[in-house]
Amino acid sequence: MEKAEALKTDILIIGCGIAGASAALEAAKSGFKVIIITKSDELKESNTFYAQGGIVSLGPDDNPELLKEDIIQTGDGINNPEAVDILSTEGNKMVDSILIDELDIPFMKSSPDSLDYAQEGGHSRRRILHIRDTTGKTIEEKFVAALKGYSNVTLLSGHTAVDLLTVPHHSKNPTSFYKEPRCIGCYVLDNKTKKVKIIFSTYTILATGGCGAVYLYTSNPRGAIGDGYAMAYRAGARIVNMEYVQFHPTSLFHRDADGFLISETLRGEGARLKSKDGQTFMEKYAEKKELAPRDEVTRAIYEEMTNSNSNYVYLDLASFAKIDIKKRFPHIYKTCLRYGIDITKESIPVVPAAHYCCGGVLVDGWGRSSLGGLYAVGEVSCTGVHGANRLASTSLLEGLVWGTRAAQHIASHFNPVLEHTAPDIHQWYYPEKEEETDPALINQDWISIRSTMWNYAGIIRTPKRLERARADLNYLRHRIEKFYKEARMDTNVVGLKHGIQVALLITSAAIGNPVSRGSHYLKN
Ligand code: SIN
Repeated sequence: MEKAEALKTDILIIGCGIAGASAALEAAKSGFKVIIITKSDELKESNTFYAQGGIVSLGPDDNPELLKEDIIQTGDGINNPEAVDILSTEGNKMVDSILIDELDIPFMKSSPDSLDYAQEGGHSRRRILHIRDTTGKTIEEKFVAALKGYSNVTLLSGHTAVDLLTVPHHSKNPTSFYKEPRCIGCYVLDNKTKKVKIIFSTYTILATGGCGAVYLYTSNPRGAIGDGYAMAYRAGARIVNMEYVQFHPTSLFHRDADGFLISETLRGEGARLKSKDGQTFMEKYAEKKELAPRDEVTRAIYEEMTNSNSNYVYLDLASFAKIDIKKRFPHIYKTCLRYGIDITKESIPVVPAAHYCCGGVLVDGWGRSSLGGLYAVGEVSCTGVHGANRLASTSLLEGLVWGTRAAQHIASHFNPVLEHTAPDIHQWYYPEKEEETDPALINQDWISIRSTMWNYAGIIRTPKRLERARADLNYLRHRIEKFYKEARMDTNVVGLKHGIQVALLITSAAIGNPVSRGSHYLKN
């Protein structure tokens, strides 16, 4: 059997959005040997990179208690109070010390000595720091640049995580069953050579982001298919709250725009939603109108679309904005213009899109999962901060706080006893006669997964739709498993295996929870 190339590191970080990058920076400063892998060729490709709105801090008339109240109200009261407390009290300090002082991130200012705070749905005050409408891009680029300055950090782009390595599961030694299960690294596919490497790590941090791309319409990049949830589930870590998938109310409705986000900060600057015949409608649905929590706005749009038999509604910024639109939203302005829409003069056709998974790998205040050696940070994790629905612009902050805390925890508990010489584990199995993958099969499987999730496990769910989804997805899973065993390994084949697993995790969690709440909306 072909022996895989093996690497060894103190900390393996899978994913390089704000959560993975914060963990890496903190670990690098403490002198650990760190390997970061990302499956895309561009290191910066992540949900963070596409985040437009901003990052929550504390505004001038604000305090942690007020932020906590907004988070818990939006999350419908099932948030983890300890986690909400950590985010609200430590978050703004880390924004100041890491993002502003250390990385020199140029957040917008309203005057030479005061930062500009934006408003979004569910927030009782203006408290969101931003760099116009490309906040995530700047943050991501600054982190990547800083990480490149550390010789103890190895950045491996173009590498797809296939499965977490665990003892006893992958061990050849039968007596390892008497030991506590532990994650000891990952099988990783080199996308170019199509060979699987083994990376042994004393600690592994999952920072793989979310899973919006298992839905037909999503604001996430197409790579956000939930690799981390699928791998953690197969490795035996606890996964919770997967039914709470948040839909962003406003992505651009255009054949070629592929889920381009129209940030909630437009509504924060006064933009109003209108039906196809030009009538505002949010006043019929929520007291806070356009600034109600996302799940409420999304359902109102869904209802209006259904009632008027339309595929979209309009977002009108031009008639209501008191700001210079081109200056405040240059990226959204330019992108919409490319599709023939001048947002300074006309309304934007919008439609909801899958945006954020509030559930994930259950972790504590330090990012520790239920499996030894495995941490999870950012969207792939469930700290409990978000409860049933996430408050806008808290995700970058959660990634920053838990990424940093996970690395701090590892640094203060690093156990050299666990520094293994490469344990005797099973080599990767390649089928004897590897079949080239037929892209038509992969595409069709993805169409089936995405439309099943959108129609049956989407914005409005019913027990019948969910049962149908589970049956169809289970059937598909059998076919994909068979295909996976015979096909030549590549990143698309691995992605399909992860994706079907995640679709089933969401659907099964939704079936298991009969209470309609937050972003899990059930109609009987
Ligand atoms: C947005 O800009 O609307 C997205 C911000 C978020 O998801 O928190």
